[in-house]
Amino acid sequence: MKTTTDNKKRILFICLGNICRSPAAHAVMQHMVDERGLSSQYEIDSAGIGGWHIGQLPDKRMREHGNRRGYRIDHHARQFDSSVDFDRFDHIIVMDEDNFRNITSQTTDEKARAKVLRMADFFTEHPHATCVPDPYYGGSADFELALDLIEDGCRGLLTL
Ligand code: 4NP
Repeated sequence: MKTTTDNKKRILFICLGNICRSPAAHAVMQHMVDERGLSSQYEIDSAGIGGWHIGQLPDKRMREHGNRRGYRIDHHARQFDSSVDFDRFDHIIVMDEDNFRNITSQTTDEKARAKVLRMADFFTEHPHATCVPDPYYGGSADFELALDLIEDGCRGLLTL
């Protein structure tokens, strides 16, 4: 049962490691919300499916690419916890299909299942993109593409 009584929108971004895409989405969304004076209306967080990087700052490359666009990407990685996160958040936004399958497989009821949405559902400037691809094993252009897609998705999410 949800224990909070305010009307905040609670959004959790999910990726595999919580060191590249989801902490970037977390920072971009927080920046957009702050810029619009909406901070009190949102709670934003991010988490990873895997626990390999728990406690770590985001990948240095993502921090640098984000920093160039004015984002401070400084979340400390944590692992998704189905026992609390399905209750705590209204929307759980996943970066790709693997994430979608993993998170929905942890749901026990339809209410939780309906909270899991794909970032790609909110793209308007990249109508043919179906996910935010993992840049971890890629180069500079992959980090830039991830940020382009994340900015596009976050703008869409503001209308939720
Ligand atoms: P992310 O990228 O899911 O966007 O944080 C990854 C980071 C680390 C690993 C995989 C993806 N890893 O296997 O360690």
